[in-house]
Amino acid sequence: TSAQAQSASRIGFNPIPIATDATIHVPEGYSWHPVAKWGQPLFSDAPDLNHQTGGSLASSDRVFGENTDGMELFAIGNRQVIVVNHEYANPKLNLPQNVDGMVLSGDDALKLQNLQGVTVMEVAEGENGWDIVIDSDLNRRITQNTPMTVAGPAAGHDLLKTDDDPTGRTVLGTMNNCGAGKTPWGTYLTCEENFNGYFGSTDAAFKLPEDYARYGISLEGRYNYEKFDARFDVSKTPNEPHRFGYIVEIDPANPLAAPIKRTALGRFKHENAAATLAPNGQVVVYLGDDERGEFLYKYVSNGIYTPGGDTSTLLDDGQLYVAKFNDDMSGEWIALTEDATDMSAAEIAIFTRQAGSRVGATTMDRPEWVAVNPVSVECYCALTNNKNRGLKPNAGGDETPVTGPNPREANNYGQIVRWQPADDDHAATGFTWDLYVMAGNPIVHDDAYAGSSNVNEGNLFNSPDGMMFDSTGLLWIQTDGDDSNEGDFEGMGNNQMLAGDPVTGEIARFLTGPVGSEVTGLTWSSDRRTMFVGIQHPSAPFPDGEGKLARSSIIAVKRDDNAPVG
Ligand code: FEO
Ligand code: CA
Ligand code: CA
Ligand code: CA
Repeated sequence: TSAQAQSASRIGFNPIPIATDATIHVPEGYSWHPVAKWGQPLFSDAPDLNHQTGGSLASSDRVFGENTDGMELFAIGNRQVIVVNHEYANPKLNLPQNVDGMVLSGDDALKLQNLQGVTVMEVAEGENGWDIVIDSDLNRRITQNTPMTVAGPAAGHDLLKTDDDPTGRTVLGTMNNCGAGKTPWGTYLTCEENFNGYFGSTDAAFKLPEDYARYGISLEGRYNYEKFDARFDVSKTPNEPHRFGYIVEIDPANPLAAPIKRTALGRFKHENAAATLAPNGQVVVYLGDDERGEFLYKYVSNGIYTPGGDTSTLLDDGQLYVAKFNDDMSGEWIALTEDATDMSAAEIAIFTRQAGSRVGATTMDRPEWVAVNPVSVECYCALTNNKNRGLKPNAGGDETPVTGPNPREANNYGQIVRWQPADDDHAATGFTWDLYVMAGNPIVHDDAYAGSSNVNEGNLFNSPDGMMFDSTGLLWIQTDGDDSNEGDFEGMGNNQMLAGDPVTGEIARFLTGPVGSEVTGLTWSSDRRTMFVGIQHPSAPFPDGEGKLARSSIIAVKRDDNAPVG
């Protein structure tokens, strides 16, 4: 590029090459260090991780959990508080003494349940960088057993009632917490994604209720929980799966407050929850359902957000919409009303996927994170990939033709769709869309699989997933793809984080993760001088080195001159 083009670029760092090694790389002039690692104590009564045992059961809900994912930083008084998801467990690492990490007892199951959920932790920057403030009165672990309240149209419905909770209004725990979000009133939104995998049946002959299939709930549990905990045995507690798959609101400033499941935002495999405001103050939350052939949604509150006003029902009283993309680059948000779906409000909240099918929503190539541009009225959604187009996803799902923003037949690489709401109003039902980038590989392809014109040999990536805008309006893209660096993925290296300019389309690689990891979760310190980045499921012994267990971690990235990084 010419000197003139370089000076016009908003990308303020020298892009880095791919990597295939077991550590992190960032541009010249930047450095990084771990802030929180799986098993690191939040409270002084918990020891640091024992690499032989994966930690004790007693300390498992007193430490930073497993597989860090979506996160947000909150300034509470003069304190910095990170709230972060722990998406799933790695039994082979968490139960290293058991062959294949198999759950062999109720204690094993409880340990895994404790290592998942959410961490609330105060962090502070000292001489050696950022660290957890041990024993802060704001530190909190929310696990798969933490009591929480159900609110919205599904609360108290018969389908949510169990022997242990005949009210259908109090659930134990949250699970498979993937992406995140933040409300304008300073609460955290955690998103329950692949909850189906936690349920199984001890009765192989149990006939699954018909509505399970669309959500992928089967007789085979992923963790063996059902053998030791009847709550996860669908033959004994058939309604328990209806109590998961929601957006859950957590107040980081109030460690005693029960989290609230906001059922008005629908039940599906929630990726993240990107909240913003319409010009009149209505709250708008964009929501992806990350499964092949599922949909993109948004929620619009009936009430208006006013700073300092009552926010308690803004996420209960509102309208859920599903997206229809037309090939002429227009689109519409279809309201999931009782009339349009022939379902009750509670049924729409519990069987949201079926409601979307009834109104003809557009099947998508796996909607992952949605990001809302803070300096322009537009949104971006990562459509991570679709390797099996044509095969129906879950039973009851729709056909998945090449259409609209899903233009490639076999989609190994993914794309990012963006849309501009009509009238610059996030509450509007109309929008126009285009593709910001089609990921691809110009090294091995010279057709549509080479990617769009803003993809080149210097910024190759596949499977965009995590996405956040910084305050200046740069789009940060994190990947969760194939890191074999071979075949279709030659030249792509490990998973990574890139920065994209929404106006010029320029995309530049900023960070590469350790081998086997996914880069997911991003937030900033209040002064914007530190960027916190999540590293999930590294396969090498990151960051402690040879002979140690691999630890999913949050790292801090700073400029060496301490200037802002977004
Ligand atoms: Fe948990 Fe769709 O990523
Ligand atoms: Ca994800
Ligand atoms: Ca993913
Ligand atoms: Ca993941």
